[in-house]
Amino acid sequence: MMENENKKVMLSGIQPSGDLHLGNYLGAIKHWGARADEFDCYYFMADLHTITVRQDPAQLRRRVLTQLAQYIACGLDPEKNTLFIQSHVPAHAQLAWVLDCYTMFGELSRMTQFKDKAAKHKDNINAGLFTYPSLMAADILLYQPDYVPVGEDQKQHVEICRDIANRFNGIYGDVFKMPEPYIPKVGARIMSLSTPDSKMSKSQPEGCVFLMDRPEDVARKFKRAVTDSDTERCVRYDRENKPGVANLMAIYSAVTGKSYEDIEAEFEGQGYGKFKPAVGEAVVETLRPIREETERLLADKAYLEGVYRAGAERAAYVAEKTLRKVYKKVGFLPR
Ligand code: TYM
Repeated sequence: MMENENKKVMLSGIQPSGDLHLGNYLGAIKHWGARADEFDCYYFMADLHTITVRQDPAQLRRRVLTQLAQYIACGLDPEKNTLFIQSHVPAHAQLAWVLDCYTMFGELSRMTQFKDKAAKHKDNINAGLFTYPSLMAADILLYQPDYVPVGEDQKQHVEICRDIANRFNGIYGDVFKMPEPYIPKVGARIMSLSTPDSKMSKSQPEGCVFLMDRPEDVARKFKRAVTDSDTERCVRYDRENKPGVANLMAIYSAVTGKSYEDIEAEFEGQGYGKFKPAVGEAVVETLRPIREETERLLADKAYLEGVYRAGAERAAYVAEKTLRKVYKKVGFLPR
């Protein structure tokens, strides 16, 4: 129905390892739905990836369902986008094993996310954490996408995916299409509101704005946002010297569509006292309909089940086609 040979393909995923935050929204999801008529789109909940770090099973189930509701609430129409749960399509794990055998220990060792997570979870540096990028390569290559819309921190993983695909194609011919990362101009790297030199992430909840936060909490987080200690106290875009202000400007620009020059003009001579609450207010208004729609959808479990069942079926159809081709190329005897 949705599969169309002539349409370009877009694919991406998010780990349901925590509640979705403003970084996930501005860096990724916001850009997914915009071109659903033009592209054949696949978006999934990357639950297989989450168990590289210990998860509470009940919480994981709840988060996957909430994330699906949030995808829809953010504007991804399930009739126009294939929305599915990664673990419902076994081809992901199956292709990941094959790709593991075409991925080098050295290249995995260089992955920033592995180094960060290994440092954070010293007592659980498991093999899955290490081979995570080949599972992600499988997620991507199964659907032969043209574009993978992600935030900046995932660029390295899309690049290793291209290296793996190139290596495989070099041996067996053109099996995989070469995917391009699609990284937005504004919002690709939203920083923490409390420590603007590190990216916004759920592991630092004080500086992180969650999509389901209550409006008063969002407003409070922005009022307390760290700006800078220079005496100038003017709203000016300078990533190097004023990272906190630059980050707030990036957020304001991403949610209002205003350019940095417009923003500088709007707050000229006003200091941060007016600016910070204004950014908070704009974010509250952006998140309000998403939160309300998510809550409404979560009350209708039967509808969500219908969406993820249909999504898994469509995704599996496409994924299995690629997997069969790969199995044949490497020499597995057909069943
Ligand atoms: P994850 O779950 O950490 O993040 C999901 C998406 O949100 C983006 N993002 C951000 N963008 C801007 N500013 C931030 N502070 C910020 N934090 C997160 C990420 O870049 C990402 O686009 N490995 C992936 C999930 C994944 C995947 C895939 C993605 C698994 N398989 C296949 C694409 C294709 C991950 O951990 O993203």
